[in-house]
Amino acid sequence: MKFFLDTAELDEIRDLAATGLVDGVTTNPSLIAKSGRDFIDAVREICEVVDGPVSAEVTATDADSMIAEGRHLAAIAPNVTVKVPLTPDGLKACRRLADDGTMVNVTLCFSAAQALLAAKAGANFISPFVGRLDDIGADGMELIADIVDIYAAYPQFETEVLVASVRHVNHVIESAKLGADVATLPPQVLRQMFKHPLTDKGLAAFLADWEKTGQRILSEAPATHSLSHDAEPARRRA
Ligand code: E4P
Repeated sequence: MKFFLDTAELDEIRDLAATGLVDGVTTNPSLIAKSGRDFIDAVREICEVVDGPVSAEVTATDADSMIAEGRHLAAIAPNVTVKVPLTPDGLKACRRLADDGTMVNVTLCFSAAQALLAAKAGANFISPFVGRLDDIGADGMELIADIVDIYAAYPQFETEVLVASVRHVNHVIESAKLGADVATLPPQVLRQMFKHPLTDKGLAAFLADWEKTGQRILSEAPATHSLSHDAEPARRRA
């Protein structure tokens, strides 16, 4: 399963990309607004940090303008994935951009029927929003199961299921059990995945026992590049 980061915060992306576990990034207009960054600059910088697909969303609502915006975004870097909404115009734009050879992520998917349309339109990724479905009392995971089943029945579909609107670690685990291709994770969810109290407790005991031996594996301490596995990102600790 691939992990994308669902954020436009460069510090978070740099910090977590250093783990080697980040396969891509997704942004949306709300995340760009939250970052306070210029959209084009932010996408360019994210693409310099992460080699995998970086989703950048169009904001036009008619197909021709979405295509023009999508081509502009795709010119930023080869790994830009143009994000279009799941509307009739969005899917028209999806087909045209896919025919150009641009990667397309169809976003704001809330039903299996919509996911079927996106696959037929040649999307590289479909983004079902599990958290927002759960928020209204529906079952986000049931939608992931349906889409995975439908796509598996048609091997000619190359669209990857990108689980979006992830709220907690269980969304990731349940998606993995269902065989979803990708989950896009808020940074705090990826950080949370490292954590288990028995890991912390076990490590403390091993280190205490090792200290008693008085031994060292290396005679000199190496220069360290600490990968922060804490719940709080490095920039907030600084
Ligand atoms: C990612 O592609 C989506 O835009 C994002 O996961 C939406 O998440 P939210 O429902 O928490 O805003």
